[in-house]
Amino acid sequence: MDYDFLVKKAMEARENAYAPYSGFRVGACIQTSDGRIYTGCNVENSSFGAAICAERTAIVKAVSEGSTKISAIAITSDSDRLTYPCGICRQVISEFAGDDIKIICSDKKGQYKIYGMNDILPHAFTREDME
Ligand code: THU
Repeated sequence: MDYDFLVKKAMEARENAYAPYSGFRVGACIQTSDGRIYTGCNVENSSFGAAICAERTAIVKAVSEGSTKISAIAITSDSDRLTYPCGICRQVISEFAGDDIKIICSDKKGQYKIYGMNDILPHAFTREDME
């Protein structure tokens, strides 16, 4: 898997961020198990609670196109620190995570660290918990 490529695509997607309220631009790029690539950015709203994170933009694009298994997701922002998915996005990534998914958390320059699903969301709530 080409992690550098996914981070680069996330950085490109960050350019489309619509973040006039927070000023915090985020970009994401996912690779699905069928080899497809989907990007996303955060899309904010004057009704703040309606904001959509970059990760979920990319995931909803993939699922709505028929790809439901994520092999890898890269996330970046304009921060000097690595950008980690928020809690809601961790839950949504978990819903569509393929086996051994890689979560690639990048800083603004494209330096990154790679995590597994269990690293960022241990004891996730899943469909099995509803049986
Ligand atoms: N944001 C993301 O896009 N992804 C995250 O995982 C963290 C937060 C966005 C939401 C909002 O537009 C801005 O960053 C500030 O929270």
